[in-house]
Amino acid sequence: MERTLVFTLIFGLFVVSCVAELQRFEHTAKPDGSLRFLVLGDWGRRGLYNQSLVALQMGVIGEKLDIDFVISTGDNFYENGLTGVDDPAFHESFTDIYTAPSLQKQWYTVLGNHDYRGNVEAQLSPILRKMDGRWLCLRSFILNAGPEMAEFFFVDTTPFVSNYFTDSEEHVYDWNGILPRKNYLNNLLTEVESGLRDSTAKWKIVVGHHTIKSAGQHGNTHELAVHLLPFLRAYDVDLYINGHDHCLQHISSIESGIQFMTSGGGSRAWRGDDGTWNNPQEMKLYHDGQGFMSVEMTQTELHIKFYDVFGDVLHKWSTSKQLSLAI
Ligand SMILES: *[C@@H]1O[C@H](CO)[C@@H](O)[C@H](O)[C@H]1NC(C)=O
Repeated sequence: MERTLVFTLIFGLFVVSCVAELQRFEHTAKPDGSLRFLVLGDWGRRGLYNQSLVALQMGVIGEKLDIDFVISTGDNFYENGLTGVDDPAFHESFTDIYTAPSLQKQWYTVLGNHDYRGNVEAQLSPILRKMDGRWLCLRSFILNAGPEMAEFFFVDTTPFVSNYFTDSEEHVYDWNGILPRKNYLNNLLTEVESGLRDSTAKWKIVVGHHTIKSAGQHGNTHELAVHLLPFLRAYDVDLYINGHDHCLQHISSIESGIQFMTSGGGSRAWRGDDGTWNNPQEMKLYHDGQGFMSVEMTQTELHIKFYDVFGDVLHKWSTSKQLSLAI
């Protein structure tokens, strides 16, 4: 009897340790219960391709909104991520570019496919956090803002895309820590599902680099539509926010309440896409150019704005929820 118990305990511990849980972070909302942040994607080009102009306007809007943090949807350093923790691109494309006082907040960052072409461990390293305290980049993690107002699920989407494994052309990807891929993806999906299922937050927001729905160059990401989207639907996710396509885009959904937001206009854009979408009713914004997005939220309201390179508002969208009454 006792032996069985010991065995069960040891075996149980072993099983638990095989399933890596997503790290959790907390960000307290303002005393009035509001939360405001900017979202930027596809940016690190040493200021070129209007990266500096976008940064300047982020500083202005960030000040106006008194933002709490910034989210980066990945492709942080072009063309091939960072070579190591001492790669000067970290300063030249991040620290020395987003210099406005309002942007001296925590940055919550995921990796894009271009980041995977460099040394991934470098971007995840605490050494970068020491060099610039704003930097926080993990493969996947959960951010609870509030308490219990909004829960953000940051998902490492690059390993989902089969093409990078089977048809990587001349690119070399750093898959250290990802292989065997099937285990990695299964574990990640299990963790995202249980996180979404257990979440008591008013708003659920999922952030990844790759698109689920997009009328841009890259279009929809089939693997995410198959493996991730069903959980977003099942657990009533409010927003899916991504980069990857170098544009600003808002696609709503006629079959669920999920809003698909692309903020990938951090630097090089103007791909010549007209944003044609099979259901024009769902297409709320397609801007083939640079810019960024802001989110302002309370327990009951959510306001989104997209800005161009001049800081002019291109598109606004709002929704609200009733406060659930305690019985
Ligand atoms: C920078 O932004 C301006 C204004 O949108 C645009 O006309 C110009 O082409 C952009 N430059 C680049 C390199 O994208």
